[in-house]
Amino acid sequence: MAMEAPAAPYDAAEPGPSVEITVSSAEQMRELGRRLAKLLRAGDLVMLTGELGAGKTTLTRGLGEGLGVRGAVTSPTFVIARVHPSLGDGPPLVHVDAYRLSGGLDEMEDLDLDVSLTDSVIVVEWGEGRVEELTDDRLQVLIHRAVGDTADEVRQVALTGLGKRWAAADLSVLAG
Ligand SMILES: Nc1ncnc2c1ncn2[C@@H]1O[C@H](COP(=O)(O)OP(=O)(O)OP(=O)(O)O)[C@@H](O)[C@H]1O
Ligand SMILES: [Mg+2]
Repeated sequence: MAMEAPAAPYDAAEPGPSVEITVSSAEQMRELGRRLAKLLRAGDLVMLTGELGAGKTTLTRGLGEGLGVRGAVTSPTFVIARVHPSLGDGPPLVHVDAYRLSGGLDEMEDLDLDVSLTDSVIVVEWGEGRVEELTDDRLQVLIHRAVGDTADEVRQVALTGLGKRWAAADLSVLAG
């Protein structure tokens, strides 16, 4: 009798639309964040993947500006997550640095964030393998820097929408 291999939980997410964007400076990365903010709404999860210094926090900074939230987005060195409330009536931004989050989702639910994650836009750095079980719907952002030249400011950013939430999204607006 044939047996189906059990799928990893994150395999449930259907890859949807994707776009690849070349970003040539930190300011352009921020601008991309500001544009991305317009596509986001409460309950959305954005997962940022890229090596140290790739520009994940820089992108999140632009996102915070685009969402119009309080407080500068910085690298949360000593905290795992920081909540930036909206200055208007938009959703708060929850910025998670999962680098030190060893236990995954359970630990995140224990953070006592004082906001409901479904009412927030959640951006997670270093989330792969840790937060997929939060939802099948997520925007995956991969940031690559040009190999071999550490002075190079050029980044390739690949964004892919996963799950129903993103199935009909038009990511081409991000290319500017
Ligand atoms: N095209 C670019 N996009 C983003 N950042 C850039 C770019 N070019 C240069 N930089 C610089 O690279 C650094 C990126 O740092 P940032 O904190 O955003 O990275 P990170 O991916 O969050 O790193 P970490 O894994 O340590 O959290 C900043 O100093 C930024 O000014
Ligand atoms: Mg960072």
